[in-house]
Amino acid sequence: MRLIVCDSQKDIANFGANMIAEVMASKKDAVLGLATGSTPIPMYAELVRRYEAGELDFSTVRSVNLDEYYPLAPDNDQSYRYFMNHQLFDHINIDKNNTNVPDGLAQDPSAACAAYEQLIRELGGIDIQVLGIGGNGHIGFNEPAETLDPLTHLTDLTEDTIRANARFFASEADVPRHALTMGIGTILSARRILLIATGAAKAKAIATVLSGKLTTSCPASLLNLHEDVTILCDCDAVSLCDEKTLAAFA
Ligand code: GLP
Repeated sequence: MRLIVCDSQKDIANFGANMIAEVMASKKDAVLGLATGSTPIPMYAELVRRYEAGELDFSTVRSVNLDEYYPLAPDNDQSYRYFMNHQLFDHINIDKNNTNVPDGLAQDPSAACAAYEQLIRELGGIDIQVLGIGGNGHIGFNEPAETLDPLTHLTDLTEDTIRANARFFASEADVPRHALTMGIGTILSARRILLIATGAAKAKAIATVLSGKLTTSCPASLLNLHEDVTILCDCDAVSLCDEKTLAAFA
């Protein structure tokens, strides 16, 4: 696990965009695993800037998103499909047919989840998976629990997550209670992982991840099982880590 602590959002956006650009340069038809949430927005803006400057070409890139609320229509302005279109896909030359987000209206969610796993396999796997992190340590919508699901599945959202995500909806009652999400095993099967965390609300979860211990009460801690994880943080997100832990990553 590699830890990069940046002084500004701009540096985080640049560093993250550099990692994605590197993957795209090494593989024309790279498969980007993408995430929603407010954290990756500056990095997506930087990717758009580089596309507009002629520095990046997404025409042969494929993408798979981590998760989607369930049930929620793709054209609902709170859906993750809508988010991705507005934050990134509408502003770059990616072929929308090559972008994939779990289907928030799937009639048969378990069949849709199995099909999503199959799709990832058919694409040849994920070259780089971008992740945010919930204040409770969730990644995608893999919530803290006694047991965790390995593959893409339908899940219930915790009260913590419903409350945290209510800021994007008209009211807490409007937040869907379920989601379709890649599982921990799906995420760990990506060749590289980039987790971005900013703000003090993420400090406890980041301290748990960096402790190196595994616990299902902080699903992101399972990233310690992967050999190519970069954690890109601001100072606030590492504010609960002790000196010894930080020194180990220096
Ligand atoms: C949501 C998403 C996660 C995301 C998390 C953090 O619950 N399912 O993928 O990482 O929120 O969001 P934010 O970046 O807005 O703090």
